[in-house]
Amino acid sequence: MDKRVLQDHVDDINNIIEGFLPVPDGYNSELAEAMRYSVNGGGKRLRPMFMQEVFRMFSEGREEPLILHAFMSAIEFIHTYSLIHDDLPAMDNDEYRRGQLTSHVKYGEAAAILAGDALLNHAFEIIFTCIEESEDPEDYMAGISAARVLSSKAGMSGMIGGQYIDVYSEKHPDFTVDKDVLNYIYRNKTSALIEAAFMAGAIIGGAADIEISVVEKMATYIGLAFQIQDDILDVEGDSSVLGKPVGSDEKNDRQTFVSLYGLEKAREAVRTYTDRALEIFDKLRHKNVFLRELIILLISREN
Ligand code: IPE
Ligand code: IPE
Ligand code: MG
Ligand code: MG
Ligand code: MG
Repeated sequence: MDKRVLQDHVDDINNIIEGFLPVPDGYNSELAEAMRYSVNGGGKRLRPMFMQEVFRMFSEGREEPLILHAFMSAIEFIHTYSLIHDDLPAMDNDEYRRGQLTSHVKYGEAAAILAGDALLNHAFEIIFTCIEESEDPEDYMAGISAARVLSSKAGMSGMIGGQYIDVYSEKHPDFTVDKDVLNYIYRNKTSALIEAAFMAGAIIGGAADIEISVVEKMATYIGLAFQIQDDILDVEGDSSVLGKPVGSDEKNDRQTFVSLYGLEKAREAVRTYTDRALEIFDKLRHKNVFLRELIILLISREN
């Protein structure tokens, strides 16, 4: 894929997100600044990109409603909060993220915890504001349904649940991380938010229930491939390209796909899960050439 094409998508998403970021004002200026700092650090914007492309697949050329843009921003805010908390000393204790100092190093631990909390709440505030103000009854209903999906996928039976077991296993060496536990961790800490991105895009795009379940399944596989590639990069990546440290998993005695099965098996798994996702993708009634290429590009990503 042409790098400029991808960058155009990222620029477009960044413009959308900017419109939903909090503006520093009054006593809480620094809190808003800390929220903006982590969001604007320069992530790949994959979750909003997935959501927008899935919307484009199902919406048959319909103009993008404001509610889609609210959800695209919200999922990036939730993802960013999960990274701020993931980097805290109580979790992975990392000092770099998105090519800059982590929130707790720059603003202090208390501010970082609160900036993360505030991003999570801000995400749902912008979603519900857009739902309330939406004039189209279909957008209204889709907004409610997508909000339920996002809250659940981000919560204890989704991202937070996966993060919990990931950290729990590190603190309890007698708790064996076998194939099933690892699968649980990855499906939740990483796939869940990617599933939410695909499902919200489909819901707002007007997909049928069966299609929403199909894209959910596809996103599970994309998430698994994505996390295993993240583990590979933690071992053999370049921190200046990654924008975050390498060796974080080893430092934390974290059991990962790579530590359990080795690099070769990990590379194989990234390809297998991506193939499974593409198999589902190719059976869908709707096509999206850019999204297909993006999924393939992720196999060989270096950041
Ligand atoms: C990092 O996510 C955390 C994982 C789930 C592996 P990304 O690799 O999408 O991070 P950014 O958004 O580009 O910084
Ligand atoms: C974290 O996984 C996934 C999240 C839900 C934040 P990692 O701990 O491997 O993510 P990185 O490598 O720090 O981005
Ligand atoms: Mg972690
Ligand atoms: Mg981490
Ligand atoms: Mg990692």
